[in-house]
Amino acid sequence: MSAAALLEVDRVSKQFGGLRAVADVSLTVRAGEIVSLIGPNGAGKTTFFNLLTGQLAPSSGQVRFRGQAINALPPHARARLGMGRTFQIAKPLVALNALENVMIGSFLHEARLGAARDKAMAVLERVGMAHLAARRAGELTLSERRRLEVARALALEPQIVLLDEVMAGLNQSEVGHEIELLHGLHAQGLTFLIIEHNLKVVRAFSDRVVVLDRGALIAEGTADEILNSPAVVQAYLGQGHVGSGTEAALSPEPI
Ligand SMILES: Nc1ncnc2c1ncn2[C@@H]1O[C@H](COP(=O)(O)OP(=O)(O)OP(=O)(O)O)[C@@H](O)[C@H]1O
Ligand SMILES: [Mg+2]
Repeated sequence: MSAAALLEVDRVSKQFGGLRAVADVSLTVRAGEIVSLIGPNGAGKTTFFNLLTGQLAPSSGQVRFRGQAINALPPHARARLGMGRTFQIAKPLVALNALENVMIGSFLHEARLGAARDKAMAVLERVGMAHLAARRAGELTLSERRRLEVARALALEPQIVLLDEVMAGLNQSEVGHEIELLHGLHAQGLTFLIIEHNLKVVRAFSDRVVVLDRGALIAEGTADEILNSPAVVQAYLGQGHVGSGTEAALSPEPI
């Protein structure tokens, strides 16, 4: 094990009946890294996240975080160790305001109401949403709700943050703002593992890119290496289209 390894995934698989959603995936994320996980729809990316953060138990394989085997730990215990995440289908408590939504995360490390509120407010400031603290989550715009998801993950005081398509549905300028925010958080010492379809984000915000296809890790490298790889283009477009792949074709969403 490398001294700086934060998250170590060793041959993890997840079987859903006859479907092998994640197949023998190994991956190490070091402290301070930004790793992007890409792959076609249904490749197993979200399932892989669920194995890391404990929403699902692996059928086989081992996940270690900060040197500790965590397979047996429930999600809240993994959060306590330093794993924060967002969910692809965000479920903010729409009747609560933004501050209260973030406070739910703050309570992980802070039992006192006032202190939890202060910590949550500091997180909202960190993501540029302090002015929206009193706004009900149900009244936030899509980009504000996505940012609230990031704030909820940050409230857990994580060392690593796993983001599952937090840019989906945002326009170009909103994506630009989110990339700026993530760069700032990274500069403050956070490690990131992100699932992203938007290749503009992958290019702008990755040290390393990992590709999943039908559950298996099929490629790993820099953004340039990966986005120009025939194997990756083939995974997205299928046999017969290799060579015609463009970045636009790789991305199911407008860049
Ligand atoms: N709880 C479950 N039970 C059975 N099958 C599941 C379950 N969760 C996911 N799957 C299946 O596992 C495969 C991988 O799904 P997953 O959601 O991990 O893909 P993904 O790469 O995140 O896709 P997308 O890009 O569309 O979000 C899919 O075939 C999906 O239908
Ligand atoms: Mg997914």
